[in-house]
Amino acid sequence: MLRETVLVCAIIGALSAPQSSSPCSCSDETEEWWRDSFIYQIYPRSWKDSDGDGIGDLNGITSKLSHLKDLGVSGLWLSPVFTSPMVDFGYDIANFTDIDPIYGNLDGLTKLTAKAHSLNLKVILDWVPNHSSDEHPWFAKSIEGIKPYDEYYVWKDALIVNGTRQPPNNWLSVFLGSAWEWNERRQQYYLHQFAVRQPDLNYRSAALRKEMEDAILFWVARGIDGFRIDSLAYVYEDAKFRDNPVVNYGLPADDPDRLATTYTKDLPETYDLLQTWRDLLDAQGGSKKILLTEVYTTLPLQIKYYHYGSNVPFNFMFVVGLNNQSTALDFKRSIDEWTNSMPKGDYVANWVVDNHDNKRTSARFGIQRADQIGMLASILPGIGVLYNGDEIGMEDTPISWKDTVDTQGCSAGPDRYAQYSRDPERTPFQWDNSTSAGFSTSPTTWLPVNSNYKTVNLEAEKLDPRSHYSVFKKLVAAKKLPAISKGSSEVILATENVLSVIRRLSDSPPVVLLINFLNTPVTVDAAAWLNIPQTLRVYTSSVGSRIPTDVELNTTKLTLPGAASVILH
Ligand code: GLC
Ligand code: MG
Repeated sequence: MLRETVLVCAIIGALSAPQSSSPCSCSDETEEWWRDSFIYQIYPRSWKDSDGDGIGDLNGITSKLSHLKDLGVSGLWLSPVFTSPMVDFGYDIANFTDIDPIYGNLDGLTKLTAKAHSLNLKVILDWVPNHSSDEHPWFAKSIEGIKPYDEYYVWKDALIVNGTRQPPNNWLSVFLGSAWEWNERRQQYYLHQFAVRQPDLNYRSAALRKEMEDAILFWVARGIDGFRIDSLAYVYEDAKFRDNPVVNYGLPADDPDRLATTYTKDLPETYDLLQTWRDLLDAQGGSKKILLTEVYTTLPLQIKYYHYGSNVPFNFMFVVGLNNQSTALDFKRSIDEWTNSMPKGDYVANWVVDNHDNKRTSARFGIQRADQIGMLASILPGIGVLYNGDEIGMEDTPISWKDTVDTQGCSAGPDRYAQYSRDPERTPFQWDNSTSAGFSTSPTTWLPVNSNYKTVNLEAEKLDPRSHYSVFKKLVAAKKLPAISKGSSEVILATENVLSVIRRLSDSPPVVLLINFLNTPVTVDAAAWLNIPQTLRVYTSSVGSRIPTDVELNTTKLTLPGAASVILH
């Protein structure tokens, strides 16, 4: 509905100015289309399979783009679809400028992009600069020492200790164990901050930097609207290869959390590299390209990315910072901290709800609270980032050790895999109650479909006004409410256990989110504590809260059921 407004606006824009009450702004629409919207992450293996091999693909995605249009998001980010042996399911790239046959081909991506654009949806690709696959032709040439490829990767001589060969230092891989792998042919170790088969690229090589720039331009020429930059903080390592300090002596020797990442992550050079890509993109002219950066780091280092060209330095506070033990006050503190750290000027905040690397929201906070993070991402200023399945309340799927395929899970071994595996949050999207939840015509799929698909699926939820889908549709639309796109924002504790966010704009009623952190009902005089009108309408409420929508509530004596959340306006 709101998208239509934008489209119509674009058509009539030349003829008449939009009404001032309209949420649509024609100039912003083309420039920074991502402001005040939700961006939707698709995990391509798991969204929609068109050819019955049990693995999702580009044609499948194209056939279902209408879902994103209905949901009302502004754009989609595709996890990697490039040529890959799939050791890390596409995050190990063997050709930065081609599509893997599992997903389709370049023509398929062109069709996807054209269809998306016709629906006014932007397309963001996943850009994985830190490493390639060991099957990338560059790596073979690097092993052979052929110039300039010899320096495309991070090679280092062995340490010889008491006559035995050892890795050059103590650096550990994110996926457990030494970050160094011996290569017999080259007689050196190569660095891999992730899987053994994901050798780290060397950004101290100018020739490598140029290759990567060319690959970026290849996609820009194909009409891509921007990039999500993967594992950005790992691109540079200490030039002196110093040992990382041990900080957690209690952890096993192969656990990366045993070490600080002083010399392997967050190096200052990272920011300058990002700036070169920002400048490159800006120099192309045409519509402005979005850059989203994936970095798990401290708040100051996160915020710093704004100054080097990131539009969306992913804010992971709801994904890794806060959990189901966190109090209303913890939430308030974290949100205020981020907001207060935002640089002054034209920068926009963002709130990641979920992604393919972490347990789903429903697993992190409990299914009763599955909608709350989406509600926060909606009402707080700026961009919300959704992961496919959030909008229907998908849950983690238990996967046995035998069925585990995620490289991080596999490298942890049978005793620890459950703690590390990312398979549970990556199972196929649940479209309907047919074979494989409508994801594939094949009854077997690359990861099993969650057994709850008969009831938890998009088709069923579309018919149910009390479903997660119905809630999320309202949450996405709420981004365009004037009080949310333009109003002031306050985070207030209505009681010790009731978190509230209030968005105010003169001449329109405030929009108010209330979340009960207790599992028992709480009654609060929200009118007095939050300085809001004594009656407000329910805009949407969490599934299971039993708070009806579209009714007027007396805010002077407002009862929130246990774990309930509600948005009033
Ligand atoms: C990022 C991706 C993750 C991948 C890793 C290595 O963190 O989100 O899925 O395994 O980078 O590329
Ligand atoms: Mg397929």
